[in-house]
Amino acid sequence: MNDVWNYLSPVEILFGDGALARLPERVDTAAVLLVTDPHLAAAGITERVRGLLPDREVVVFADVEPNPSVETINRCGRLAGEHKIGCVVGVGGGSSLDTAKAAALVAATGADVAEYLDGKRKVEKHSIPVIAVPTTAGTGSEVTPVSVITWTARHCKQPLVSPYLFPALAIVDPELTYSMPATVTAATGMDALSHGLEAYWSRGAMPVTDALAIGCITRVLPFLGRAVRNGDDREARREMALASLLGGLAFALPKTAAVHACSFPLTSRFGVPHGTACALTLAAFVEFNYPALQGKMDVLFQCCGVRSLGEFADAVRALHAQVGLPTRLSQCGVRAEDMDTLVAESFHPNMRNNPKEVTPHDLTDIYRRLL
Ligand SMILES: NC(=O)c1ccc[n+]([C@@H]2O[C@H](COP(=O)([O-])OP(=O)(O)OC[C@H]3O[C@@H](n4cnc5c(N)ncnc54)[C@H](O)[C@@H]3O)[C@@H](O)[C@H]2O)c1
Ligand SMILES: [Fe+2]
Repeated sequence: MNDVWNYLSPVEILFGDGALARLPERVDTAAVLLVTDPHLAAAGITERVRGLLPDREVVVFADVEPNPSVETINRCGRLAGEHKIGCVVGVGGGSSLDTAKAAALVAATGADVAEYLDGKRKVEKHSIPVIAVPTTAGTGSEVTPVSVITWTARHCKQPLVSPYLFPALAIVDPELTYSMPATVTAATGMDALSHGLEAYWSRGAMPVTDALAIGCITRVLPFLGRAVRNGDDREARREMALASLLGGLAFALPKTAAVHACSFPLTSRFGVPHGTACALTLAAFVEFNYPALQGKMDVLFQCCGVRSLGEFADAVRALHAQVGLPTRLSQCGVRAEDMDTLVAESFHPNMRNNPKEVTPHDLTDIYRRLL
């Protein structure tokens, strides 16, 4: 833990059932760009937002794919540039919110987002304000300064991070998450748990993010299973939306660590959805990191009502299995002969945030046990 710490969240948060109805009070520009994905557009989100903003021009970009690419973000940004957009409203899962955040930057600068990924350009000022409206409960992207982008030319996923990428406003309306199918609820919920745990053990952790992380973890453990079993369980949906928000606030500055580093090649090479990829290694890193945390994990265990490392790791594994996600790498198409590539590609910069150094040997061992 750092001796001097500094926490800032510039994102205004509007939270609660029905909060989306307050969108019109918060849009004061003539033209807005709605960024969403085709599935949500087909389910009626475009009409709903148009209905809330009848006297504004609502330009729609509904082409966001899971794990949005450089090309999609550039296309979305150019559309905003052509329409003199004053505000970008992202409605959807992390893919839509991340597209909205990076497209606002592209619209304001006219740049190719790949130039930011390879460091040729730096994000130097605020672009068009973004209102982020999550419809999944997992990524916390509505409160983070991060846009995770698939860098097609390099076959990898790369987080673009800048304080100028924080949305201006997050509207977190748990009712928007009711329509998530069980598999999406499960994967995004395990992503939230990964954010809580990785924020808590990140080298950049600070007391205020520890409190947020505990708020996240102590909600996911009892409520994720309920939300997966019954998508209409209002209390579980609300607690999961809050867990996701707290997880986002927790990791926004400390950043994530080994679990997320490992998730990137699992997604870009093997097509595993983000939360499903994080869930695969989570319990293994609880055990791996424990000795480096000098009692800090015991405080967390007390907050969660468990007495030991074994009990906590078992609880994470039981939840993982209970929500029906794959628990073995082989279920996700990884073969023994893929091991060396997977290990090599997992050494993303986030790995350096891990509280205990991870060597290629350690990671091979973890992956082999999960095969
Ligand atoms: N920026 C950040 O801080 C951050 C943090 C974690 C993850 N991410 C990124 O977010 C992306 C993953 O986002 P995600 O897990 O939210 O999934 P997603 O946005 O990719 O959506 C997954 C699927 O769920 C569907 N969906 C979303 N909401 C729904 C709803 N309410 N009802 C029915 N279907 C719904 C979508 O249409 C899509 O088919 C990844 O690219 C990941 O890297 C970003
Ligand atoms: Fe994540």
